[in-house]
Amino acid sequence: MGMKICFYALREFDELVFCEQMKEKYGIDFVYSTQYPTPENISLASGCDGMSCTPCDMSAKVLKAFHDVGVKYILTRSVGYDHVDLAAARELGMKVDNIVYTPTGVADYAIMLMLASVRRFAHILKRTELQDYSLKNKLGRDFSMCTVGVMGTGRIGTTVLQHLSGFGCRLLAYDVYENDRAKKFAEYVDLDTLLSEADIISLHMNANEANHHIINHDTIAKMKQGAYIINTARGKLIDSEALIEGIESGKLGGAALDVVEFENGLYYYDHMGEVMVNPKLAILRSFPNVILSPHTAFYTAEDVCEMVEGNFRSCYEFGTGKKLHGLETK
Ligand code: COI
Repeated sequence: MGMKICFYALREFDELVFCEQMKEKYGIDFVYSTQYPTPENISLASGCDGMSCTPCDMSAKVLKAFHDVGVKYILTRSVGYDHVDLAAARELGMKVDNIVYTPTGVADYAIMLMLASVRRFAHILKRTELQDYSLKNKLGRDFSMCTVGVMGTGRIGTTVLQHLSGFGCRLLAYDVYENDRAKKFAEYVDLDTLLSEADIISLHMNANEANHHIINHDTIAKMKQGAYIINTARGKLIDSEALIEGIESGKLGGAALDVVEFENGLYYYDHMGEVMVNPKLAILRSFPNVILSPHTAFYTAEDVCEMVEGNFRSCYEFGTGKKLHGLETK
């Protein structure tokens, strides 16, 4: 019998067409729900080899529910896999795989946020829409004169450095693992040096226990006066309360956040006209020097295709015993 994947939170307007293509290419069937997994819809995965999700609650309890309906593979349509309880999956004998997509989309989005921040571009656009063509409060900084500190030099962080090398900025990098490609473009420094010397700090780390709230009261205190923080990685890396205080006190020049703490259930839904249920996000929204976007750095036609294909490929590899990349729990 052929293999089958149950897709959750599948977007019919952009992902479905790629599922149809990959079904033909890999000979793997699929079913789908547009909803995130819930106790009511887990039975849809019954008889499927794999389930595919985007970041959502994939704790031990949810994994066990999928295990009980026969699912063997947990496939996430994301690079980040911090939402999946890997230890629980291992215990249950389930295999887990993330995907790898071309890092340029997210890297360029981070650079766009850097430029928009230092040039106050979001504020300028909003004012222009209201016919405010004045210059007051719109003075920017020359990006090429800035020192940019990249925290996390995996594929995306390194691509950010490579692309920034054309802008003339001074480039600093911090990671527990150094890589030779990043060294071509940036100087690796310790965290305190990066914090104290960077005008713009861009986060490109996987979220884990060790770096939870790595941007906090202490690290913000060590930053340069007027520093900007860019986050296209995970909300959990920043203590939002400390960030809010940093903005309010004027210590920080601004922030551009594609991800925030507690975004699950909020982002990717249209909540227009509703009462905001994330008070920290509501405060951040009120600042003219904070740019927010709803976790869209990844959102290009190329990356969406790679995300869907990645899950089909992982299922194929798990099912046939071949392994090309990534995490595998045995
Ligand atoms: C990832 O690939 O890790 C992302 O953050 C994008 C995902 C939420 C679709």
